[in-house]
Amino acid sequence: MSRHLLSAADLDADEATAVLDTAAEMANVAGREVKKLPTLRGRTVVNLFYEDSTRTRISFEAAAKRLSADVINFSAKGSSVAKGESLKDTALTLQAMGADAVVIRHGASGAPHRLADWVDGSVINAGDGTHEHPTQALLDAYTMRARLGRLAGLKVAIVGDVLHSRVARSNVLLLHTLGAHVTLVAPPTLLPVGVGAWPADTSFDLDAVLPSSDVVMMLRVQRERMGDSFFPSVREYSRRYGLDGARMRQLPAHAIVMHPGPMIRGMEIAPEVADSPRSTITEQVTNGVSVRMAVLYLLLGGMNQ
Ligand code: NCD
Repeated sequence: MSRHLLSAADLDADEATAVLDTAAEMANVAGREVKKLPTLRGRTVVNLFYEDSTRTRISFEAAAKRLSADVINFSAKGSSVAKGESLKDTALTLQAMGADAVVIRHGASGAPHRLADWVDGSVINAGDGTHEHPTQALLDAYTMRARLGRLAGLKVAIVGDVLHSRVARSNVLLLHTLGAHVTLVAPPTLLPVGVGAWPADTSFDLDAVLPSSDVVMMLRVQRERMGDSFFPSVREYSRRYGLDGARMRQLPAHAIVMHPGPMIRGMEIAPEVADSPRSTITEQVTNGVSVRMAVLYLLLGGMNQ
């Protein structure tokens, strides 16, 4: 594995599988009474979050602590300094403090790549703008493999606001690497320009895609990243692209329903679906800790030592 994890495309199939296998071992630790390994004792992990986050920030913090690293949480939200300058100054501070890994979430696509030029430690992208969120893709792949036993050949529908979703892009890249087949389902206004070059099919018709899907991953409509006019109304959006109970019943019996969170119940997903046995939403959160432990371990303590 290279020093950083900036994109899901940084991992080839062997490396991605190594992360998932290591995460499975880390999951055993979570089942113990003492949920801690000494592996990263004396190493420093900085969580640098310029954007809101619940799951991802807590998950990285829990992962680093379970590996006995020292964790510094830097919540940069609200900073009024010009972005490029402040990021570089912050990077130099982290560098001076001897951070071994920096986990960064930033509203600007590409910010983690810039940071990687400025610090000696590992940089892990925890979500950059509308670009990528590679550890989310890894925890999603882990969850699919855990529930369905394999990734190769799986048919995965990713549904909703693909345009603004870093989760969708990272999932497409990783699932392609691991041999799954992705169909992106969205209204034309919520598909990115150039999506034709992604290793995925596209469809505007959710009902046509569901009966042959093993996995359906619902995305939140990211209103904070859009103006008006991406779709006529919430009601119209839900009617065409929301997953309600009737639609869920079109899925094959074994199929699972995923969501990275935060979900808007009643918009892209009905409560009946989110709380059904097919839903993996809380498992995804649990698996996120094991996957992030694996990533920290492999970048800081494992393969590179
Ligand atoms: C996602 C994100 O922030 O990219 N959430 C997450 O990390 N679990 C998706 C979203 O905000 O809708």
